[in-house]
Amino acid sequence: MGKRVGMLGSGQVAQVLAGGFKKHGFDVKIGSREPAKLAEFAKGAGVGTGTFAEVAAHGEIVVVAVKGGASLSALQQAGAANLEGKIVIDATNPIADEPPQNGVVRFFTGPNDSLLERLQAAFPKARLVKAFNSVGSAFMVNPTFPGGPPTMFICGNDAAAKAEVSTILQQFGWGAEDMGMVESARAIEPLCQLWCVPGMLRNQWTHAFKLLKL
Ligand SMILES: NC(=O)c1ccc[n+]([C@@H]2O[C@H](COP(=O)([O-])OP(=O)(O)OC[C@H]3O[C@@H](n4cnc5c(N)ncnc54)[C@H](OP(=O)(O)O)[C@@H]3O)[C@@H](O)[C@H]2O)c1
Repeated sequence: MGKRVGMLGSGQVAQVLAGGFKKHGFDVKIGSREPAKLAEFAKGAGVGTGTFAEVAAHGEIVVVAVKGGASLSALQQAGAANLEGKIVIDATNPIADEPPQNGVVRFFTGPNDSLLERLQAAFPKARLVKAFNSVGSAFMVNPTFPGGPPTMFICGNDAAAKAEVSTILQQFGWGAEDMGMVESARAIEPLCQLWCVPGMLRNQWTHAFKLLKL
């Protein structure tokens, strides 16, 4: 059995990523404020369930996959002691409650700010890495695009954590591009807005980003 993963969240992203980690041999627990509602999914997926604190305690790697505005609260409920020294993959986006404007989802963060930085500042001993936020959940695990593996842009302050997340992304069928420290989330989180525009305007949701280099 691979490393233990604690998945914070019960929604589409949390379920898809929990399934992906399970598929790749990790020992997964998925969590919610109400773990009972995950019983059916967990039985089908072959993963355990628990509260945010229980799944964070279980994980050697923790993944945050809750509503962006609730991510700080979810990590607080997980507990700082259960995150200390661990890789925390942040798949969230700072989407505001207000509706999109001409297809552009609104953020509650500004251009010189990001959710990742807020989470890292609140939990300085966690090793946060932004990943999985710039694609729809349908393509997070081993997508098959005609152009080959797409690019997942990642960032964070801990080089070893980013290297391990890059290996995980490779298993998940992605090419990881390390874009720097936590501040780079100011550029990575808005990729969510760009990714959603064709969907919002033309109902096209089947794409992913790829970085072309010389
Ligand atoms: N949907 C996508 O394709 C996609 C793609 C990339 C990134 N993302 C990002 O991934 C995250 C998850 O998205 P999603 O669509 O799967 O689910 P979502 O509907 O955005 O979030 C559902 C999760 O948020 C938690 N939550 C809501 N309010 C909370 C609160 N006050 N305190 C603690 N937890 C709370 C819920 O916890 P309970 O289980 O306790 O109710 C549930 O686990 C979001 O940040 C989203 O922006 C989504």
